[in-house]
Amino acid sequence: MASEETEIKVVRVAGEDASWRRAFKAFYADCPRPDRSAVPHAYFAARAGRKLAGHSEIYFDGGRWVMDGLRVAAEFRERGIAKRLTAARIRYAMERGAKEIWYACDDGNLVTICCHLRFGFKKVCPTGHTCNAATAHWYRLKVTKKLRKDLDGLVPA
Ligand SMILES: CC(C)(COP(=O)(O)OP(=O)(O)OC[C@H]1O[C@@H](n2cnc3c(N)ncnc32)[C@H](O)[C@@H]1OP(=O)(O)O)[C@@H](O)C(=O)NCCC(=O)NCCS
Repeated sequence: MASEETEIKVVRVAGEDASWRRAFKAFYADCPRPDRSAVPHAYFAARAGRKLAGHSEIYFDGGRWVMDGLRVAAEFRERGIAKRLTAARIRYAMERGAKEIWYACDDGNLVTICCHLRFGFKKVCPTGHTCNAATAHWYRLKVTKKLRKDLDGLVPA
């Protein structure tokens, strides 16, 4: 059980070593993540001491920066960790020149409602996709001067 006082650190996963890989597999045991090693990517972890409190990814594929895999362990939820993981990924893509950032998920997904719309993501059907109520929906965040200005206010680095 995590102490209320445990400091949560949100960091980019450096090295992707065997110990991280084991923790990553266990964290997503019920929904295994695709291998991102063939494309530019970064993982962000929220750590409470040695424990993985949250995890997420961003990758660059087909000309798009895409966020995926946002999950916070049940005992660490509703403490702002998902917001911090999302802000960290947005900053990461912006620092690499992203003009847009994307993600896909179903309607009604709590991840969308709580963690992404606040940043300004809007639902868009990308060229070449067929979007309807039965498919995953794509959301796009345009990187604007306003976003750069507002991001630290939304979620401090
Ligand atoms: C959705 C999820 C990522 C949210 O993580 P979190 O760290 O609890 O979210 P945050 O604390 O950053 O909350 C962000 C906002 O959403 C709200 N929120 C979070 N959980 C909520 C809930 N259950 N009901 C209503 N609002 C909620 C918070 O109040 C906060 O808004 P606020 O800043 O205006 O108060 C987490 O619940 C989760 O991991 N769910 C399972 C997702 C999953 O397993 N996906 C599969 C991946 S393979």
